Amino acid sequence: MAIERIYSLQILILNLIASILYQSCESFLTTPSSIINPSKVKQVSWKPRAFVYEGFLTDLECDHLISLAKSELKRSAVADNVSGQSKLSEVRTSSGMFIPKGKDPIVAGIEDKISTWTFLPKENGEDIQVLRYEHGQKYDPHYDYFTDKVNIARGGHRIATVLMYLTNVTKGGETVFPQAEEPSRRRTPPKDYLSECAKKGIAVKPRRGDALLFFSLFPTAIPDQNSLHAGCPVIEGEKWSATKWIHVDSFEKNLDIGGNCTDLNESCERWAALGECTKNREYMIGTAELPGYCRRSCKVC
Ligand SMILES: *[C@@H]1O[C@H](CO)[C@@H](O)[C@H](O)[C@H]1NC(C)=O
Ligand SMILES: *[C@@H]1O[C@H](CO)[C@@H](O)[C@H](O)[C@H]1NC(C)=O
Ligand SMILES: *[C@@H]1O[C@H](CO)[C@@H](O)[C@H](O)[C@H]1NC(C)=O
Ligand SMILES: *[C@@H]1O[C@H](CO)[C@@H](O)[C@H](O)[C@H]1NC(C)=O
Repeated sequence: MAIERIYSLQILILNLIASILYQSCESFLTTPSSIINPSKVKQVSWKPRAFVYEGFLTDLECDHLISLAKSELKRSAVADNVSGQSKLSEVRTSSGMFIPKGKDPIVAGIEDKISTWTFLPKENGEDIQVLRYEHGQKYDPHYDYFTDKVNIARGGHRIATVLMYLTNVTKGGETVFPQAEEPSRRRTPPKDYLSECAKKGIAVKPRRGDALLFFSLFPTAIPDQNSLHAGCPVIEGEKWSATKWIHVDSFEKNLDIGGNCTDLNESCERWAALGECTKNREYMIGTAELPGYCRRSCKVC
């Protein structure tokens, strides 16, 4: 009797251990990344069309994106030192990094999940950009769509943006749509702390793992001016986000608009990796009339 009881206890414990092991491995072995659960999506606004998916990324995925960006930041700081370009990086205050598409299985999994959620093909997406905002840092109101020829040469217009929050932010750092139209039904006032900036429109509070999807174009393909948005200043804490911009056409198509596709500075590739194509557009890309120095690395030709 006693022996039998000990035996069944052993089995019980073994089963327990096996199920714990199985559960912790499951997230690595299977690809829950491509499973999308529509009930986790909340509508933020119809003008612009904006939605939040709660818990879109796992902790592992958030940490992975942050660590990829951190190592890239470190690598470029060292490269700057070696090449004696440290002066430039001071100007840059570089906090943005592009992570090449499908860089590893985790990144590819996130990209699969984005395309499953948005119903937009993977090849229409740009590389994921990871941004870090520290105290006081913000992103002034802007549109994600471009209207100039150079910027829509590759993949056409940006149709949608998926903004993923990788950290919780204690105060501030909300994404706000200042021109969004309030839904007709009055919303209950949010219990969460919202910064003054966030009160100027419809705001989304950054929460680790959540993803915000909004469209920059109407279904008619006309740019939606309600899609104006801003990143509110971070008041307390640190904000890490990852952005995927999605175009109406394949972003992998290189449309050559000038004939010659060259970089005019040996540092172009590195600058492009640091996000200069976006931050320093005039120098890097320029305009059709006055082309920039790094059009090849910025992949606009
Ligand atoms: C750059 O090099 C100098 C010395 O050559 C060193 O003191 C400094 O810490 C280096 N900076 C970085 C970011 O590696
Ligand atoms: C982030 O905040 C949410 C509540 O808004 C909480 O459930 C979650 O545990 C927090 N995550 C971390 C890593 O602090
Ligand atoms: C391409 O570059 C060559 C040499 O730099 C130049 O002669 C030619 O005019 C350029 N072509 C175009 C279309 O800009
Ligand atoms: C590349 O840019 C750096 C920094 O602006 C500059 O010092 C260097 O002369 C440039 N090289 C060429 C070939 O223009």
